[in-house]
Amino acid sequence: MPVDDGNLNTTRLVPVWDWAIRLFHLALVLAIGGLWYTAEFGMGFDFPMEWHARLGYCVLGLVSFRLIWGLVGAGHARFANFLVSPARTWRYGRAFLARRSPSYAGHNPLGGWMVMALLLTLLVQGVSGLFSTDDILFDGPLREWGSPALVAVLNWLHHNNITVLWVLIALHLLAVMWHAFQGENLIAAMLTGKKSFSSVQEVHDIERGYQRCAPIVPCLLAVFVIGIVGSAIWLTIR
Ligand code: HEM
Ligand code: HEM
Repeated sequence: MPVDDGNLNTTRLVPVWDWAIRLFHLALVLAIGGLWYTAEFGMGFDFPMEWHARLGYCVLGLVSFRLIWGLVGAGHARFANFLVSPARTWRYGRAFLARRSPSYAGHNPLGGWMVMALLLTLLVQGVSGLFSTDDILFDGPLREWGSPALVAVLNWLHHNNITVLWVLIALHLLAVMWHAFQGENLIAAMLTGKKSFSSVQEVHDIERGYQRCAPIVPCLLAVFVIGIVGSAIWLTIR
């Protein structure tokens, strides 16, 4: 919707992130905060590792949801609409370093691959957690199912992959800050779903818009995700 600011240059508010993506992101940030807290401190909880595990199942549910949404969803949520070839990503990266990269309504080519890296690292972290132990009171629910060698590798992975995740999150936040420094407020867009562009600015994929599908689709997906998380929690308390 154009907003007249009194001269020829007007501002466009462009729909970019559907509510499912925004809710997914908010829940993910809260869950990761809780996972870090319960793993590192655990104070205030009688059973910090149980809560750590439950939050981990939530992350597994959220990531599963996002992976499916990236395949069946539309608009800027769909992977096919923001994952581009390595050659295009390389060209974008060079333009970015030269500070003449074009604007994108959704994820830019580098940002798109960063999203995949974050999702896959979260998946590895969550799955390896299912086989981990604190060597005192808590064992992941699938620990007894794996061979000793597999369990040892996954336990090691859970303690080391987290460093990869922290680095990716730090890069993610630096990128968001970099865009803010360039006058592009991505945080507001992740909260409201809309990005603001000047009417004279050239923007890739500006017409793509929101996910437009029957509300039943995300609702069914949410039921699926709740099913995964619910069954996993049941596994720990059975
Ligand atoms: C726990 C740490 C975080 C993780 C794991 C994370 C992960 C992600 C993921 C996976 C996406 C892609 C969204 C999608 O397409 O589904 C994303 C996007 C985004 N995140 Fe985060 N995020 C984290 C923290 C934050 C924080 C603290 C902020 C704000 C200060 C933030 C701001 C954003 C923004 C603005 C986008 C959209 C980027 C764009 O426009 O291309 N994130 N994040
Ligand atoms: C993406 C989700 C997850 C994240 C981000 C995460 C994060 C962490 C972190 C930061 C640590 C401490 C690592 C260290 O100090 O070296 C940890 C340890 C651990 N996590 Fe997770 N975790 C996740 C999912 C899970 C799940 C699903 C389970 C089990 C159901 C689990 C079980 C454990 C166990 C048993 C430990 C060892 C604690 C200890 O050594 O005292 N985690 N996790």
